[in-house]
Amino acid sequence: MPSECVFGAQWGDEGKGKIIDRLAVGADYVVRYQGGANAGHTVVVGDEKFVLHLIPSGILHPGKVNVVGNGVALDPQALLSELDGLLERGVKVNGDNLRISASAHVIFDHHRVMDSLSEKWKGDGRIGTTGRGIGPCYSDKAARTGVRIGDLLEAERLAPRLKAALAEKNAWIVDLHKQAGIDFDEQLERFLALGERLRPFVGDVGGEIRRAHKAGKTILFEGAQGALLDIDHGTYPYVTSSNTGTAGIAAGAGFPANQIGGAYGIAKAYCTRVGEGPFPTEDHGDGGYKLRKEGNEYGATTGRPRRCGWFDATATQFTCEINGATGLIVTNLDVLSAFDTLRIGVSYSSNGVNLDGYPAGLIDLEEIEVEYEDHEGWGEDITMVRKWEDLPAKAKAYVERLEELVGTPIVMLSVGPERDQIIPRGLEA
Ligand code: GDP
Ligand code: IMO
Ligand code: MG
Repeated sequence: MPSECVFGAQWGDEGKGKIIDRLAVGADYVVRYQGGANAGHTVVVGDEKFVLHLIPSGILHPGKVNVVGNGVALDPQALLSELDGLLERGVKVNGDNLRISASAHVIFDHHRVMDSLSEKWKGDGRIGTTGRGIGPCYSDKAARTGVRIGDLLEAERLAPRLKAALAEKNAWIVDLHKQAGIDFDEQLERFLALGERLRPFVGDVGGEIRRAHKAGKTILFEGAQGALLDIDHGTYPYVTSSNTGTAGIAAGAGFPANQIGGAYGIAKAYCTRVGEGPFPTEDHGDGGYKLRKEGNEYGATTGRPRRCGWFDATATQFTCEINGATGLIVTNLDVLSAFDTLRIGVSYSSNGVNLDGYPAGLIDLEEIEVEYEDHEGWGEDITMVRKWEDLPAKAKAYVERLEELVGTPIVMLSVGPERDQIIPRGLEA
């Protein structure tokens, strides 16, 4: 297996955690390169369910090196709580199998406070963020006022940077929003202590994975969120603050883009979205309600009910194209067993005129109408199926139609949350 990546091809929560856990079997390294604890990647192993937010989804396999790259917005407290939770459950995590970039940016308390105040300030225009401080942290990174994990390891480096940051942020929090300010001494002491706990994991992880790659090791990159939440190519401004797809890897992991051998987009057999923003194939009626119920569509990070709708072939064609997907992996196919009729959004139109593909602007997306194709459901349980040949003919026809519309080979199907509920279709794992 060459070095490859997995990215969300919709609005997040496509089942990346499950697929990464599965593909990690053939990898030596699993690397997160963007996002932060806004992610919630679920891995189910037997009766146990793990929801990973910052620690890569390869951590449940002994012998794999899990890397948090420089492009991640890292909340040290969230990472350590996650680490403690894994240790309590008997998962081995130490400086050998978890590595953290010294250059990853730190999420402080003021970032989370600013995230929630900024959402309140926006009122009806809010994004519906996860409240994890992601936007404010990346804003500081771009403004060159951020603090990096390596800075937490030396009081003389952290103190002046934190002091300067808090002077500015407290002015915003206290003077503009009339909220309690954040105490410098308390933060300094706490984040230095967090830095001490992180010390054994911290290093130049970009150099480490480049050397490993040269030595013939296999790297699997783990995207968080989804391509339609990408800061540049998603449904701006209703997006997250990072490049979620393959474009984020070189910058966020320090790994040359031209060394990535394969890119797998993950998409549900239908569509979900958490938070605000356009969602062309959203079903506001019984169909959406039933998808939520059958798919248990509640956020892994915030518990919010996910908005549900039908597979959007136009948007998925766009996300696969822009990320150079070499394969598409379709998850949650089993959820559709409960439906008599399945819908696929096959194209967009505006004022009765068919649009050629996915429109770049948000205004267009809010105004478009979706043309649907209806398919008869297969109406039988497929959670025990492990081979393509054993799927009902109507399920195969549905998958083949998705493949045709998206124009990317569907290389694997997932028919349940557990590790073994996989149907290979070209990609073995
Ligand atoms: P991620 O953020 O992309 O890793 O996805 P989440 O973990 O947030 O959400 C995916 C949800 O679907 C989780 O509850 C998974 O356990 C579950 N899941 C993954 N694959 C399948 C599948 O094929 N069928 C069903 N029914 N559930 C799945
Ligand atoms: P995973 O990795 C689904 C959404 C939020 C909000 C927008 C911005 O589990 O697929 P942010 O907190 O990032 O500033 O919120 O992005 N969002 C996600 N939706 N899955 C995720 O991650 C998400 N991470 C952020 O709901 O609409
Ligand atoms: Mg998720």
